[in-house]
Amino acid sequence: MKAIVVTPGKANSVRIAELSQPKIKTNEILIEVIRVGIDGTDREIIDAKYGLAPENEEFLVLGHEALGKIREIGADAKENANNLKEGDIVVPLVRRPDDCSYCQNDMQDMCIKGDYTERGIKGQHGYLSEYFTEIPKYLVKIPKDIEKIAILLEPLSIVEKGIRQGWSIQNRIPWEPKNALVLGLGVIGILGCLVLKAMGIDVYVYSMEDDSNSKVKLIKKVGINYISASKKDMLKLPTLIGRNIDFILEATGNSSVALNAMSLIGINGALCLTSVTGGLNRVTICADCLNLNLVLGNKVIFGTVNANRIDFEKGVKHLQLYNKKHPGLLDKLITNRFKPEEFKKAFENFKDLKAVVEFK
Ligand code: BGC
Ligand code: ZN
Repeated sequence: MKAIVVTPGKANSVRIAELSQPKIKTNEILIEVIRVGIDGTDREIIDAKYGLAPENEEFLVLGHEALGKIREIGADAKENANNLKEGDIVVPLVRRPDDCSYCQNDMQDMCIKGDYTERGIKGQHGYLSEYFTEIPKYLVKIPKDIEKIAILLEPLSIVEKGIRQGWSIQNRIPWEPKNALVLGLGVIGILGCLVLKAMGIDVYVYSMEDDSNSKVKLIKKVGINYISASKKDMLKLPTLIGRNIDFILEATGNSSVALNAMSLIGINGALCLTSVTGGLNRVTICADCLNLNLVLGNKVIFGTVNANRIDFEKGVKHLQLYNKKHPGLLDKLITNRFKPEEFKKAFENFKDLKAVVEFK
């Protein structure tokens, strides 16, 4: 079968390879891949800034955002298949546990030891191949009405976790957030806007695009406020918004922006950081100013990575909801489709939204 592989640590080693089709063990399920989404993490792995091959192997099959169809269920997998049947459409989780206490309690997204693996990223092959195998526990069933857009579920799960964690941290006070600032108009940023908006929050987005950009038009249509970085200085955002900024979702992939975001949080507010930045960017800051501002305002900064199964399940519900509320909107987030042979183009750093590799 065709697979897209990379030699981690070796820049631009991404290539197409012919691998043998995996055979399921009795506790596993065979999945035929329909499509795989590409994101910044894949691009960082290709640039040799991130990523790890499975033990004793030289290459890594890329891809961690997948949608596929169940082709075969192993005899023992049938017993705990969570209602999964042949022909069902599924999205797999990304991270697999090690032996730490969080991982052993199905919270591998909060792993404390660091020996977890991630399919297509760290120590386990990913999904950019015609088939893959998995145990039922790590597969999420996709209802018919969202099959076309469910490739967005993995990025959405990141947003769901960030918001879930933010809200649970803010249980420290009788919190009634009125507004939120989203930094970055990538897929995570846009999905973040939609989730926050659906929660009844007034959402502002700050990003590089100017007002004529199609992504900007798309979010404005659903009542989200946009401020272009080409016109306004980021540090002026609190004045521009004119109100206490209750929650910030940082999703630009840029650590300087993440650092600046720390001085934008309103009193009692929280900042959620999601950018995985594998580089060595350095900046000089006024540490006293930043620290004082955080302390005097009782502010919270937290990082979030990966997602729990509950975040994927919440994401399924949200996809169904938005798809009904704004038919066609989520489809527009999938902007570029490539054949496996065109994988190089899919990994280019373009300014559109979700690029996917179509296997079927
Ligand atoms: C993936 C996460 C993963 C993270 C760090 C992200 O692109 O969506 O599942 O945990 O990269 O490797
Ligand atoms: Zn762990």
